[in-house]
Amino acid sequence: MKLPNWTTLAICLLSGTASAQSWAWDDGTTPFVTSPPEVVDRMLRLAEPKAGESLVDLGSGDGRIVIEAARRYGTRGLGIEIDPSLVARARENARRAGVEALARFEVQDLFETDLRGVGVVTMYLLPEVNLKVMPRLLQDLKPGARVVSHDYDMGAWRPDETIELPVAEKMVGPLGRSKIHLWLVPANARGTWKAALPAHGGEWEFRIAQRLQMLEVDARAQGREMTVRGSRLRGEELKLVVTGSLDGKPWNHLFRGTLKGDRIEGEVLISDGDNHRTLPWTAIRSQ
Ligand SMILES: C[S@@+](CC[C@H](N)C(=O)[O-])C[C@H]1O[C@@H](n2cnc3c(N)ncnc32)[C@H](O)[C@@H]1O
Repeated sequence: MKLPNWTTLAICLLSGTASAQSWAWDDGTTPFVTSPPEVVDRMLRLAEPKAGESLVDLGSGDGRIVIEAARRYGTRGLGIEIDPSLVARARENARRAGVEALARFEVQDLFETDLRGVGVVTMYLLPEVNLKVMPRLLQDLKPGARVVSHDYDMGAWRPDETIELPVAEKMVGPLGRSKIHLWLVPANARGTWKAALPAHGGEWEFRIAQRLQMLEVDARAQGREMTVRGSRLRGEELKLVVTGSLDGKPWNHLFRGTLKGDRIEGEVLISDGDNHRTLPWTAIRSQ
């Protein structure tokens, strides 16, 4: 019989701290604890399932996340659950909610689930389980796919957004409150990119080094080093703030673009402090 890790649970309850192991079973597996309705609501609002996208809840319990996504967004969803009695309960809940055509549930180990092509992954697991799932998420999901986790993060892969809300009745993890983390699977931006801006600086070059969604960017225009003041990659959406002198005048540039394969398409807002204009911008990866 599985036993909950009562000692650490008690320590957690007393201290009010979120301990990595605080509510695991003794064999380290994640127990069945439900996300309260207000948390499910915020998880889905953060994930923003779009028409035609599919959702997978890893460790789906009574099915509430998949069912709510189907009810509210018309999302096709799959709940993956190791406990057959919970899968039966989730199917019954989906039937009662009238969404059994959209909300499916399977008895499966979440580590064996095929996530290719999935648009949104939700999870309420333990920190160490999240860390084990992380490489699969990065490998299998397409750029721009969203991952939303209740309470626990994924270590080095820093969330793109985190919100916290009071949940008075919550007795596990962070007591009386929930955190919700959102990640967007980053596109591959590594390499040297060239962009022609005949009306402003001519040939531009961007050299990008990348770790997860964090970028280090060098920019050159007219063969001269420019200053990259900020960079942001959210899924396939790239933003760069670049300043520097061109034709003897200081300029600010906000490059925005969508990265698909070896191409970035977007626009650049150019300003000298008094006047500004926007030009289309295309960059091609040369290596
Ligand atoms: C904390 S509950 C979350 C339930 C639901 N996602 C929610 O947020 O309300 C975690 C669920 O994961 C299931 N689970 C644990 N290990 C699993 C595994 N290896 N594969 C699939 N499901 C698992 C548990 O049975 C449990 O129902």
